[in-house]
Amino acid sequence: MAIKTVGVVGCGLMGSGIAQVCAQSGYQTVVSEINKELLDRGIGMINASLSKAVERGKLTEEARSTVLNRLKGTVSLEDFRECDLVIEAVLEDMNEKRRVFSTLDKICPPHTIFSSNTSCLSVLEMAVSTKRPQKVLGLHFFNPVPVMKLVEIVRTIITDDDTLNTAKQFSESLGKKNIIAKDQPGFIVNRLLTPYLLDAMRLLESAGATREDIDDGMVLGCNHPMGPLALSDFIGLDTVNFIANAMYEEFKDPKYAAPTILRKMVAAGYLGRKKGKGFYDYK
Ligand code: CAA
Repeated sequence: MAIKTVGVVGCGLMGSGIAQVCAQSGYQTVVSEINKELLDRGIGMINASLSKAVERGKLTEEARSTVLNRLKGTVSLEDFRECDLVIEAVLEDMNEKRRVFSTLDKICPPHTIFSSNTSCLSVLEMAVSTKRPQKVLGLHFFNPVPVMKLVEIVRTIITDDDTLNTAKQFSESLGKKNIIAKDQPGFIVNRLLTPYLLDAMRLLESAGATREDIDDGMVLGCNHPMGPLALSDFIGLDTVNFIANAMYEEFKDPKYAAPTILRKMVAAGYLGRKKGKGFYDYK
């Protein structure tokens, strides 16, 4: 199936990045937020990112306006009625995601594919809130979306082959490599990444090393672009905690249990870069 128009629900950090990449790859893109203020902020992030690309000589001024012309911001899901593919990137809240999908199910034509950018919730549970569960899958992007080359495609036990193949072609058309994961918490990347991040926190907690030495160890010793504590701050400590809890709930393996230091920092509101304080200070 040919995708021409893409809808992105949610214009936060992930949604704005996904909408930008879709518009830059030639798709007519509709992106929504729950109110005008959040929409303006999200579109502002896209504008800033495109302007930075122009400044760095990676994009021409003309290409920038072409991309912006392909983007339409809205506060109404009614504007998704011409979308061939919808990517949901709202809060990690199952009730909210199910509400979005069941609303879209009544608005979008039968051929529209629904996908979720969730990093750990059950895609099947979202799929069964629609009358087209075979056309629902996960498309999990990575932050920062314009830079990261991966999309995890999550196939549920109901997703059909046509939907999977269309999703593969679509993610490749964005210049991304795709990998196929089963619908279980953490999929592939977070299944491996999360225990590593939690172990780094346990090492810090047990005073086994300083935060700088833990991060330098992995940056300089393993060529990672960021150490695990800096990366946790970058992802958001609330998000790491949420993913860890979802995985622990499913697998009951202590390696996924959130360490005390993480739970306390989340309770204190030290959520990482977005709040100016996490394992490091960003103010
Ligand atoms: N938008 C567009 N481009 C961006 C960008 C953004 N938000 N942030 C950085 N870039 C570009 C820069 O323009 C620069 O491009 P050029 O080299 O062509 O000039 C390049 O990326 C490098 O950026 P910087 O020089 O500013 O900074 P850096 O070298 O320190 O890289 C980084 C920054 C790309 C974030 C790098 O540190 C990195 O890759 N970190 C790891 C990120 C990661 O692991 N993300 C996955 C998190 S897990 C997740 O998202 C999923 C989940 O479910 C939790």
